Amino acid sequence: MIPLAPRMGLIEPFHVMELLARAKALEAQGRSIIHMEVGEPDFATPRPVCEAGIRALEVGDLFYTPALGTPELRAKIAEWYDRRYGVEVPPERVVVTSGSSAALLLAMGVLVDVGAEVLLADPGYPANRHFVRLVNGEPINVPVGPDSNYQLTPELTEHYWSARTVAALVATPSNPTGTLVPHDALSRMASFAASHGGTLIVDEIYHGLVYEGETRTALDLDADVFVINSFSKYFNMTGWRLGWMVAPQRYVREIEKLAQNVYLSAPAPAQRAALAAFEPGTIAILDERRDAFRARRDYLVPALRKLGFDIPQMPQGAFYVYANCARLAPDSYTFARDLLEEAGVAITPGVDFGVHRPAEHVRFAYTNSIERLEEGVARIERFIG
Ligand SMILES: Cc1ncc(COP(=O)(O)O)c(C=O)c1O
Repeated sequence: MIPLAPRMGLIEPFHVMELLARAKALEAQGRSIIHMEVGEPDFATPRPVCEAGIRALEVGDLFYTPALGTPELRAKIAEWYDRRYGVEVPPERVVVTSGSSAALLLAMGVLVDVGAEVLLADPGYPANRHFVRLVNGEPINVPVGPDSNYQLTPELTEHYWSARTVAALVATPSNPTGTLVPHDALSRMASFAASHGGTLIVDEIYHGLVYEGETRTALDLDADVFVINSFSKYFNMTGWRLGWMVAPQRYVREIEKLAQNVYLSAPAPAQRAALAAFEPGTIAILDERRDAFRARRDYLVPALRKLGFDIPQMPQGAFYVYANCARLAPDSYTFARDLLEEAGVAITPGVDFGVHRPAEHVRFAYTNSIERLEEGVARIERFIG
């Protein structure tokens, strides 16, 4: 028998992928499926970015890049913080990664030793607990609900912080809830973590897709934090596999060593293409798309509430609605499965996002046109009678 690392028993699959496979199989049989499960923008990468990518292929400079990313892209990202947030970030602290997934893994790699704990909101992005487990750390799932806007708070952070805790990770806006952490709460959490020998990791991957109020980056906080971001969501570039992290200066060399070993460099053509992502013409396209997401949210949330889903707060960002379906069905997984089979609507069951009341929740992604969302809502209405 070939051995299997025992930790693999702690790595769970993405259940939605099974639903997605089933949805595709139904489509192959000719069934019409409304997709409200997909966690990526339905918009194609903006044309100027594609053109820059094509130029990169034609020029042919497609070798490994430095492990921390090309100097040009690191400088552009630093400039973006100045332009969008008015925050000065030295390019030397910017690390370009293969999706923010790699950034999260590198952050865990440099921070988490065997048995060290990382605080995570439950529900939350499921990969995070698996990154922690991969480095033999201990993810601490902190149950969060409507009373904290489905986010970690300074109080929860203090309550769950132990002598073994090295970091708390928040995503603002969050997947699956679309909710934000107020800036003063981030500040208190970062200071608390720093004064207890740890740090705060802030995943800002859904920045740019915020529909109310100003967003500030955690990079303007006094305490040192790790900020994660990506070209996947706001920039509509999921398949290019490009993200970044801004790390405290003293960690950059450690991250560089890890990146050199783990994947050598992020994709060269994607790094060249991404230079065009910050051009004013591209940003105008992206901001128009952000407004389209807002309009979808403004349609979908009241429509779902009318059907009997409980959505205590209007989600402020990302493209997700995390809805309590307890009034409509006793188990969200069975509900999602039957909804797909019988009504042709694909959504994500709560089980993918943690262990805190998953059977009562489902996630809707509004990564589809308003017309398709309307059709989805009509089908759900008929399904629940
Ligand atoms: C909160 C959050 N962080 C990180 C990621 C990883 O995205 P990527 O690796 O495409 O940047 C996702 C993807 O859905 C996400 O929702």
